[in-house]
Amino acid sequence: MIRFVNVSKRYSNEDNFALKNVNLTIQSGEFVSFVGQSGAGKSSLLKMLIGEEKPVSGEVWIEDIRVDQIKPEFLPYLRRRIGVVFQDFKLLPTRTVYENISLAMEVAGATKAEIKRDVPKLLNLVGIPEKSSNYPKELSGGEKQRVSIARALSHNPILLIADEPTGNLDKTNTYDIINLLLKINNSGTTVLLATHDQEVVNKLQKRVVTIGSGEIVLDQEIGKYYI
Ligand SMILES: Nc1ncnc2c1ncn2[C@@H]1O[C@H](COP(=O)(O)OP(=O)(O)OP(=O)(O)O)[C@@H](O)[C@H]1O
Ligand SMILES: [Mg+2]
Repeated sequence: MIRFVNVSKRYSNEDNFALKNVNLTIQSGEFVSFVGQSGAGKSSLLKMLIGEEKPVSGEVWIEDIRVDQIKPEFLPYLRRRIGVVFQDFKLLPTRTVYENISLAMEVAGATKAEIKRDVPKLLNLVGIPEKSSNYPKELSGGEKQRVSIARALSHNPILLIADEPTGNLDKTNTYDIINLLLKINNSGTTVLLATHDQEVVNKLQKRVVTIGSGEIVLDQEIGKYYI
C-alpha cells in the first residue's frame, strides 16, 4: 500500500506550493493514472515515492517504509523495489540493449547467472528479443521505451512509476507501451502513470487521479480525463 498523508511540497526557490495537503491511498496491485495540466504537481508527487523530493510537511509511505524520513543510506534499497520509466528513456548510448539492462542489474547486486537468465526473459517480455545487441540509436522510440521498461523491471519491483512514458511516441507505439504496462500490472505490480494523453486515460478504464494546482481535484475509480 502507498499512502500520502497531508503531504505538502514547496521547492526552496519557489513561493507557491507545488502540492497542498495531498491525501491519497493506493492499494497494492492498482493501476492509477495521474492527470492534470503542466505544472499541476504530478511529477512532484511521484518523485516523493522514490525519495527524490521531500515534502515540507506530511508523510509518504510505501508499505511499512516512511519514505520522507528514510536515511540516505537506505535509499538504494528503496529504489530497488521501485522501477521508474521516463519520457526520455535515459538509456546509455554507448551500451547495447543487453548491456543497458545487465549493467543496471549488476549495480543492483545481481549475480552473473541471474543476469544471463533474466535479460533474455525481460527482452521477451517487452517484445524485442532480437534487439539484444543493438545500440539505442538503432532503435525506434517505442523500442527504446521497451528497453527502459525492461530495465525498470529487472529487479522485480513491487511498484512501477511511469512519468509520461509515451510523451515522445506516436499513437501505435503509445498503445503498445500502455498494453505492456497493463500486462505488467496484471502480473501483480502496482503501476502509477503520469500522462497528458486524454485518449490513453479514457481507454485504460482504470483509476484516475486528477491534480490541479497541487491538489487532488478528482479521484475516480474508473476514470476519464476531463480537463
Ligand atoms: N526542481 C524544481 N524546482 C523548483 N520548482 C519546481 C521544480 N520541479 C517542479 N517545480 C514546480 O513545481 C510545480 C509542479 O511541477 P511538476 O513537475 O510536479 O508538474 P507536472 O504536473 O509534472 O507537470 P508536467 O505535466 O509539465 O510534467 C510547478 O510549478 C513547477 O514549476
Ligand atoms: Mg511532470
